[in-house]
Amino acid sequence: MQQTSKQRRILVTMALPYANGPIHLGHILEAVQTDIWVRYQRLKGEDCVYVCADDTHGTAIMLRAENEGITPEALIARVQAEHERDYAGFNIGFSHYHSTHSPENRHYAETIYRAARANGHISQRTIRQLFDPEKELFLADRFIKGTCPKCKAPDQYGDNCENCNATYNAFDLIDPRSTLSGATPVEKESEHYFFRLPEFTDMLKAWTRSGTLQEQVANKLSEWLDGGLQEWDISRDAPYFGFEIPDAPGKYFYVWLDAPIGYMASFRALCDSTNYEFDDYWRPGNGTELYHFIGKDIVNFHTLFWPAVLTSAGYRTPNGVFVHGFVTINGQKMSKSRGTFINAEDYLKHLDAEYLRYYFAAKLSSAVDDLDLNLDDFVARVNADVVGKVVNIASRCAGFIVKGFDGMLAAECSEPALLAEFQAAKPELAQLFEAREYSKAMRLIMALADKANQYIADKAPWTIAKTDKQSPEVQAVCSTGLNMFRILMTYLKPVLPAMAAKVEAFLAIDPLRWDDVDTLLLNHRIGEFSPLISRVDPARVEAMMETVKTAQAATAGAVKADVPASDSPLAKEPVCEEIQFPDFAKVDLRIARIVNAEHVEGADKLLRLTLDLGLDAEGKQVTRNVFSGIKSAYKPEQLVGRLTVMVANLAPRKMKFGMSEGMVLAAGPGGKDIFLLQPDDGAQPGMRVI
Ligand code: 2FM
Ligand code: ZN
Repeated sequence: MQQTSKQRRILVTMALPYANGPIHLGHILEAVQTDIWVRYQRLKGEDCVYVCADDTHGTAIMLRAENEGITPEALIARVQAEHERDYAGFNIGFSHYHSTHSPENRHYAETIYRAARANGHISQRTIRQLFDPEKELFLADRFIKGTCPKCKAPDQYGDNCENCNATYNAFDLIDPRSTLSGATPVEKESEHYFFRLPEFTDMLKAWTRSGTLQEQVANKLSEWLDGGLQEWDISRDAPYFGFEIPDAPGKYFYVWLDAPIGYMASFRALCDSTNYEFDDYWRPGNGTELYHFIGKDIVNFHTLFWPAVLTSAGYRTPNGVFVHGFVTINGQKMSKSRGTFINAEDYLKHLDAEYLRYYFAAKLSSAVDDLDLNLDDFVARVNADVVGKVVNIASRCAGFIVKGFDGMLAAECSEPALLAEFQAAKPELAQLFEAREYSKAMRLIMALADKANQYIADKAPWTIAKTDKQSPEVQAVCSTGLNMFRILMTYLKPVLPAMAAKVEAFLAIDPLRWDDVDTLLLNHRIGEFSPLISRVDPARVEAMMETVKTAQAATAGAVKADVPASDSPLAKEPVCEEIQFPDFAKVDLRIARIVNAEHVEGADKLLRLTLDLGLDAEGKQVTRNVFSGIKSAYKPEQLVGRLTVMVANLAPRKMKFGMSEGMVLAAGPGGKDIFLLQPDDGAQPGMRVI
């Protein structure tokens, strides 16, 4: 792309999908969110590069290749072709798609490691790990199962118990065994290499608070940063599919070290076939911008390790890391066993990519919230908005222009004030796209579409055309309608690129650019109108779900392997299961007044609250002691006198600091933003919450 002096130079990435599984709708949410942002920048004329790659290293890939009886190289080549096919099916406009198993990635992994080591940021020490004596490899926690040391539940993974939520060390599991061979693991020592993350604490505290992150993310990170960082183990022992560490035979870079370096590698490969200069984008101070779009499960890798690693080797840090939530299907986590784990390929067999692009856009904001794909709502919303509102404008006007005026649009439009309103939405929409507030942008565009339809309905060109097909009024009204349509399609082009291309052909115009909304299309001959998009057929959605269920009946239970376990605190926000009314009715929610609040010695997050629950049936005062993790948001003295909602019938729990007799409910994302009720409007201690 040719550069102009005012043009922004932006490099955008999305998370690199693992090469051990197919692209699913979670990946597609991220790809669409990123692609809309990139397409919007390009539409405005910015120089915006979008790179991605397959993330190919690690034990999981090595084992899968072994199971399939092929080399890891053959496996990752096959999977990459599938990934690229699926992203292309959703019109994701990458500038380049690469692989972390590439010479470029080896080069930058080694360069960064050597620079970090030369700058004193690498340490070495011997650690003890569990080792599978049959497979002859060290076992990551997810490859070890045993009985939970706390609640004695059998068949729990090596890091935490799904039954009692306890976290522990794999060494503490009772009767541990390797999930790879069934053998009992043995303890073994090995030399490991560590990145000295704690040395970057001050830099990270400043960087995470410098406007680069969503507030919710920055709040969560400050809990980690305040709690103290630990050195990061960046090495793995052979056998491992990856890059050997320089000067350390038999030691390999941990997959999470070279995965984000894949962003650099992909961009390097792009540079090699274009005029882009690598250092302009990766060394500090060149006026370029760097943004990463990621999911909430990999926040720590991108906002702690990655900026620190970059800094350790003299590279620049990102201008922004944009975190999104997970996709749920009809309110539930995607699940193979429930038959709701929708792969991109299965979607594309049945449905048009543009539908999902629009639906995601209509629900995406800049927050980290999960996004629910409710299949009934999906059908209704796409049909109502894209087909019923937007396409409808063109289909109501085009025929009259083509038949009555040989395709010629009028020399003037009939409603300049209304058209000016459509044009005037441009700055607000620009701001919304820039801020990733797509759902607000879609609402604004659809409100304009409603106005266009209302205008056409009021003017009813079909009534005039009944008596005079060539009435100038019919031409003016329909030209006005088509100009409104053209403006709306310009705004929608980042979201609906395939439909926009059809519109450009139908209107016989050059590819639309953002600033084209400032001018009108007059005295211009348009082409034939052909259907731009068809309605979503609910039967196709059902057919897709059937395909998904059938395909997954065979692979149920494999989800854990596809979706990597994560230690990101954001990822741990639960996607709650649907409950029945009797479950809800079991919870006794009461208003309580905080009559005392005090610090708990030795606790970082907890306050000890004394709660007044009013009088019981016999007129006795009921008080409860509860430990609550709200210290980050309130000083004890701010709480006395406040009201809160509490779960009054929660069984008392023995905590490290004493017995907790209930649970206090509060709202907000966490950190400093935790909100309790103020005393007001007659709510009284003991009142049941209904
Ligand atoms: O979580 C994942 O699927 C990783 N493959 C993402 C890697 S993003 C980047 F760091 F490469
Ligand atoms: Zn347990």
